[in-house]
Amino acid sequence: MSYPYQIKSYDEYKEVYKKSIQDPEGFWGDIAKNFAWRKKWDKVLEWNFSEPNVKWFQGGKLNITENCLDRHLEKLGDKPAIIWEPNNPEDHSRTITYKQLYNKVCQFANVLKNNGVKKGDRVCIYMGMIPELAIAVLACARIGAIHSVIFGGFSAQSIADRLQDAKAEFIVTCDGAFRGAKDIPLKSVIDDALIACPFVKKVIVYTRTRTPISMIKGRDVWWEDEILKVESQGDQTCDAEEMDAEDMLFILYTSGSTGKPKGVVHTCAGYMIYTTYTFVNVFQYKPGEIHFCTADIGWITGHSYIVYGPLSAGATSLMFEGIPTWPDAGRFWDIVDKFRVNILYTAPTAIRSLMGFGLDPLKGKNLSSLRVLGTVGEPINEEAWHWYDEHIGKKKCPIVDTWWQTETGGTMISNLAGITPAKPSFATLPMPGVEPIFVDENGKEIEGNSVGGNLCIKQPWPSIIRTTYGDHERCRTNYFATYPNLYFTGDGALRDENGFYRITGRVDDVLNVSGHRIGTAEVENAINMHSGVVESAVVGYPHDIKGQGIYAYVIYTGHHSDDDLARKDISATVARIIGPIARPDKIQFVKGLPKTRSGKIMRRILRKIAEGELKNLGDTTTLLDPGVVEEIKGGKL
Ligand code: WTA
Repeated sequence: MSYPYQIKSYDEYKEVYKKSIQDPEGFWGDIAKNFAWRKKWDKVLEWNFSEPNVKWFQGGKLNITENCLDRHLEKLGDKPAIIWEPNNPEDHSRTITYKQLYNKVCQFANVLKNNGVKKGDRVCIYMGMIPELAIAVLACARIGAIHSVIFGGFSAQSIADRLQDAKAEFIVTCDGAFRGAKDIPLKSVIDDALIACPFVKKVIVYTRTRTPISMIKGRDVWWEDEILKVESQGDQTCDAEEMDAEDMLFILYTSGSTGKPKGVVHTCAGYMIYTTYTFVNVFQYKPGEIHFCTADIGWITGHSYIVYGPLSAGATSLMFEGIPTWPDAGRFWDIVDKFRVNILYTAPTAIRSLMGFGLDPLKGKNLSSLRVLGTVGEPINEEAWHWYDEHIGKKKCPIVDTWWQTETGGTMISNLAGITPAKPSFATLPMPGVEPIFVDENGKEIEGNSVGGNLCIKQPWPSIIRTTYGDHERCRTNYFATYPNLYFTGDGALRDENGFYRITGRVDDVLNVSGHRIGTAEVENAINMHSGVVESAVVGYPHDIKGQGIYAYVIYTGHHSDDDLARKDISATVARIIGPIARPDKIQFVKGLPKTRSGKIMRRILRKIAEGELKNLGDTTTLLDPGVVEEIKGGKL
């Protein structure tokens, strides 16, 4: 593979950027020529942000897996597409070449077909980080089924909500997953979810942990048996389904400021082009290099920069099943050393957590293969940035700080490794095709440099969210109605004297806990389901490792005399309703919540108290009962 669209200098970036904004159709039309199409598009872009209605490459026909697999077979067939490192370092790693991956994807695509999956059907994938997860994703795309991957940390209830929302009739899962010292009983969680989802027709189960599981006749089948059936049918290839550029590729649920997660929809062509383009440019990928993105495929980062972006670029993508701290805090560095990793892309929370173990875990680890480092998911603090730079990159590796979202599909603001300047804690400059703009609360543009504001984007890029599944109005009100004719990110940002962007964090009621997005309303709903809870208010507070922690104020009338046990019970309810990732870090029992006379909870005050800032709480005279603030301040955890 060669990448004629790879930007090679800062000057070139400036030139390309200018062209991309002045003539987006010409710009993206040229880039799209580097992909495999069954039929060329008629029109590059048609859009308005009022409905919203965004269509890229209309009339074009393609299949993303032909771009990720078929087109590489001739030249890269024997090159590794996926390298997989298991949870347990004593187990064997696996290397899957492009030819092998192609064969496995075709085989599993046939398994899906044999089990009744058709184009447009929704398939929910709930698996651990094993190559079969990527294979299942690609097999769906091959036959035009819409995948919806759910992260292994979500509960049965969360899965059921998502299955119902997506009306997904098919599930691909594993008996269990290994994560550090834990076995996660995936199939058993699915079984619990399915009590509320009788419409699910088939569950395909891959064997990973050999955990005993129940298999219901007529509904549950083993992955391995189904593969044998396909093998006995002779021809194992599977023609790729011809897809319209704007056909749905996948749904990925993410949290917003309302109680219910939204199914973010991405479509085939625009998503493919943008993830490939950003992968090649941000990391400055060179053919043959090994790219290690430590995210889980259950999140957008894994979709875009473990599976689709790298594979479409013919890269080698390293997938890791485990966690950075098991069996010890040197695990990432062992992996970098073992496979001679060139690009490491991880989250600030992982860096901060590893920083806490000091330098011992780095001893004897050869990290000289590293060329580029990256971060994603939350703002990176300067201390973590410098530790990453000094101790991992040895001051020789550019660090790319990539800002983006589930809804944007790919990186929106980032430096290009070694090409455009880096600045600690700054995502720096927009990608070509991306035009950021700041507005104030009233939607008035904030111009110039050395300013801050609510971050919006002015015109569509190819992988912008198309809709929220089953509820287009929700997409409009969430992203396109706050400020007319702009996409609103929900983030606040600063622009320095040189026009470099620094993302400061969410300005809505969304928390970012260890790089995971969690809505405060979602956590409140879960807490309120606990028996004896009258009301609750959840805010974020600064947490050394997680970035943000979850702080819950709870009015509780349960009859426990043991507050500590009551806190654990509430936490268990949250884990049951949402999943362990949403467990509150702190729960404070209170008699009342600070509310305005119209009944609105004053979160600003609660946030300050959670941050330990008990003075300067601002004006509390508009409160219905200013006395509750004193009570909360004096309360203990
Ligand atoms: C935050 C993850 C600062 C931001 C790809 C955004 C970041 C949310 C960065 C999206 C970054 C992501 N610097 N903040 N480099 N990257 N964020 O949907 O608040 O899981 O809105 O997508 O993470 O999280 P999501």
